[in-house]
Amino acid sequence: MRDIFLDLKGSFISENELEAISPEIMAAQELLLHKKGISSDMTGWVDYASNINIEEYNEIKKSAKYIKDNCDAFILLGIGGSYLGAKAVVEAIRGDFHNELTSPKIYYAGQNLSGAYLKNLVEVVKEKDICIIVISKSGTTLETAVSFRIIKELMEQKYKQEANNRIFVITDKEKGALKNISNINNYKTFVIPDDIGGRYSVITPVGLLPMAAAGLDTDEFINGLKSGAEDYKNKNFNDNICCLYAAARNILNRRGKDVEILVNYEPSCISISEWWKQLFGESEGKEGKGVFPASLNFTTDLHSMGQFVQEGRKIIFETSVIIEDSKIDIVVPYDDKDFDKLNYISGKKLSFLNKNAFEGTFMAHNEGDVPGIVIKVPEMNEFYLGKLFYFFMMTCGISGYTNNIDPFTQPGVENYKKNMFRLLGKR
Ligand code: PA5
Repeated sequence: MRDIFLDLKGSFISENELEAISPEIMAAQELLLHKKGISSDMTGWVDYASNINIEEYNEIKKSAKYIKDNCDAFILLGIGGSYLGAKAVVEAIRGDFHNELTSPKIYYAGQNLSGAYLKNLVEVVKEKDICIIVISKSGTTLETAVSFRIIKELMEQKYKQEANNRIFVITDKEKGALKNISNINNYKTFVIPDDIGGRYSVITPVGLLPMAAAGLDTDEFINGLKSGAEDYKNKNFNDNICCLYAAARNILNRRGKDVEILVNYEPSCISISEWWKQLFGESEGKEGKGVFPASLNFTTDLHSMGQFVQEGRKIIFETSVIIEDSKIDIVVPYDDKDFDKLNYISGKKLSFLNKNAFEGTFMAHNEGDVPGIVIKVPEMNEFYLGKLFYFFMMTCGISGYTNNIDPFTQPGVENYKKNMFRLLGKR
């Protein structure tokens, strides 16, 4: 079977270095798999998909059908781990212009405090038939709560009592203001398990409900997660791409490579990088440690940030995510006059040009002393995305434990909130 593949050939890492770090990596994997590491009570995601609650999953499908049948647009309200995963999968599968080409349209709110954004969103959706999915584990996040209050008011004016049937909530099983509002109004509510944190929650109702409502094949997404859980528990270092990727990142970081850029060559994958940045940034950036996760979108950013990567400070390593088979493609046409001198590539598919751009870039950056890691994904579908997400989450857990930090907390996120709430006069 075709599978996700990790290529370290351009990483400037020797076999000896990999062998030297392997005991640390395997010890970290052991801690994670056997729930013996720090915050092991937050590792429910490791085997969540394999033990999925079928009754709850059927309810998710039922709610998704209601949303599809009753609206031409739905709004997903949430921030960080509460929306990035679903957004990434929806965009990657449904494609760049999905709101223009497919139904239902999907909009996002609750991920910022911009009055202009929310005002414009209200203008866009007010005449449409809408449902909303509100996601917040804590149930107290200001960005999401404020947006919910505004959109809820719109829904209640528009649908009166029926609004309650169009609001779906995903939150903690008992705590938080969102849970209280949900109980009072009898909204259909799903639970984020206690042992799964926001940025690992795409595999729970948090990801599954919006994906299913967007018409995606969540069964296949879950199969991908299960396949990841099966393959990446392998205890043979050289056969386990999570262990190898975690090893490569740590070797390069110890050599002074402080920035990892995740590179894609498909605009529809931009949000995968956003999800990945949150996963690694919030998980590893603590105690003065961690690789800074950044992302670039090629070939677009080759005409801007490419200069820095090629010739700037040598603090970067580059991880390219390559989708091997493009199902949707277009051919460069032949032109008799050839004024633009492009006939040398006429008849070629854009995917062929893109592949050559990747190979040329990879070589150039390697020559510029930038280590390159390649993650090859056979094709963009729900199965491989589920497996890719699991691959990144497992690598992140192993990498964090290897670095002796807790990859499941985010204490630094609280500092801005404290100041903001004090300035706002919260009591
Ligand atoms: O990973 C995390 O825990 C965070 O990024 C949260 O997902 C984010 O802050 C949103 O929190 P909540 O779901 O409680 O609104």
